Amino acid sequence: MPPVPRTLAMAPDADGDQATSAPSGSSDGVMVPEPFTLVVFGASGDLTRRKLVPAVYDLWCDGLLPPEFAVVGYARSTKTEDEFRAGLRTGVEEFSRAESLDEVSWQRFASRLHYMSGRYDDPSGFRALRKRLEDDAEQGAGAANVLFYLATPPGSFQAIIASLGESGLARRGTGVAPWSRIIIEKPFGRDLASARDLNRELLAAFDERQVFRIDHYLGKETVQNILVLRFANSIFDPLWNAKYVDHVQVTVAEQVGVEGRGPYYEQAGALRDIVQNHMMHLLCLVAMEPPLALDAEAVRDEKVKVLRSLRPIPPECVAEGVVRGQYVAGEIGGERVPGYRDEDGVAADSVTETFVAMKLFIDNWRWAGVPFYLRTGKRMAVRMTEISIHFKPIPQVLFGAPPRGPLQPNVLSVRIQPNDGISMRFQVKVPGPAMQIEPYQMDFGYADAFRRAPEAYERLILDAALGDRTLFTRSDEVEAAWAFVEPILEGCRGCPDVCPSTYPAGSWGPAEADTLLEADGRKWMLVRRPKK
Ligand code: BG6
Repeated sequence: MPPVPRTLAMAPDADGDQATSAPSGSSDGVMVPEPFTLVVFGASGDLTRRKLVPAVYDLWCDGLLPPEFAVVGYARSTKTEDEFRAGLRTGVEEFSRAESLDEVSWQRFASRLHYMSGRYDDPSGFRALRKRLEDDAEQGAGAANVLFYLATPPGSFQAIIASLGESGLARRGTGVAPWSRIIIEKPFGRDLASARDLNRELLAAFDERQVFRIDHYLGKETVQNILVLRFANSIFDPLWNAKYVDHVQVTVAEQVGVEGRGPYYEQAGALRDIVQNHMMHLLCLVAMEPPLALDAEAVRDEKVKVLRSLRPIPPECVAEGVVRGQYVAGEIGGERVPGYRDEDGVAADSVTETFVAMKLFIDNWRWAGVPFYLRTGKRMAVRMTEISIHFKPIPQVLFGAPPRGPLQPNVLSVRIQPNDGISMRFQVKVPGPAMQIEPYQMDFGYADAFRRAPEAYERLILDAALGDRTLFTRSDEVEAAWAFVEPILEGCRGCPDVCPSTYPAGSWGPAEADTLLEADGRKWMLVRRPKK
């Protein structure tokens, strides 16, 4: 397989971080990181098997990892290296981009997978890890640069960070060679105070420039394409503001339920699981001003400005502007599926929301008065993540006046998944003697134009190894997102009726979500069925 070119060529940071993160080589113009060892905490878990190792394997097969690359898995379960490799092999067979597993590549790759068991708060375990990394680097079985990946449940984050600090593995500072960096999974905290605590602990052990807070949505090609659409084309930016845009809709709809993660989801709900992170990133990319450059600080500066411009939804206003729902039993794809309260690990009287719809405003010059409608839910009618920009209607003269008008306004839709692409709705004349006008949809599909894109985790692991933080969340960004979401969470707790409305699995959420837009004379964008 030929290497996949990186789509956004990011400039080195203005702060000179590039000096310690210079890639060691290139293959066909594609950057390959310096030799490094990936240390995965939580290596016996599902994320490692389903996402991380298949992504790393695909990068390896594409020649995007240095030959000295190695993985050291660290987790609490006791297992042999052979058992560890065998478990990961099934993950690669099932989830890698490769159509079938090539035995020779696998054997070469597998020889670089190692495993250690230990507790996350045990100094002797971390001493042993340090010794192993140093020995491996000396003997050429690994590299001295280390990328730590926290793939554990969030309850273990603090212990691991403290142990990395105390054992000297964190090597605080960016001018230090060999480097060490840390990738930390979401959820980053469960409210503003816990996110701040986590940031404090993280930044006591590491420098902010060593920290890579991951949100896999930012690794999706189509999410990155929002910036390209907006800033690599001259025709959109002049229209991208309150003068021309009537409103914006963002939908993240999933068909899956909680997939065996009941206990986690009970604590999270849709607000923490999707709105605070994935949806805030989408919103920022759609609404932000052009950054000064495509470097990490400039892009993230603009995203933070959007988050800080969000009009707060105080707890007492949550009942009006926010709709919460919870799915009950229903049908998806012709199959009966249970309600949320019947899922494993979910309380029979749970009031956790599996659906949220809300209207929000960005109080800045560009977006003054433009409503942004967000909705997300599990067990929805279709799987679909889409952003649609609804332009203002034409004046009520000429074609806009009766009997022809009012005509349907123009809509630009960015489909993140599935059937990734972009479509534009505009009016055309129906051929014939009469002036008959109909809306037409012009469509661009990624799959028709390009070959299969790399998975989000491939891009993100590679970027972290290259030291590029653009697609990772900065400390102030994560805190600004929590600062917006927290009063909503508080309002939900304080609602006289804390029970979310119900909706049948396989539907589009509770009726109140439709009312939210209908009250403003608008409707949720009609959903096109995914291509068969
Ligand atoms: C995760 C959430 O972050 O994103 C899951 O915890 C959700 O609940 C998943 O299902 C959705 O990701 P994707 O890439 O399938 O849209």
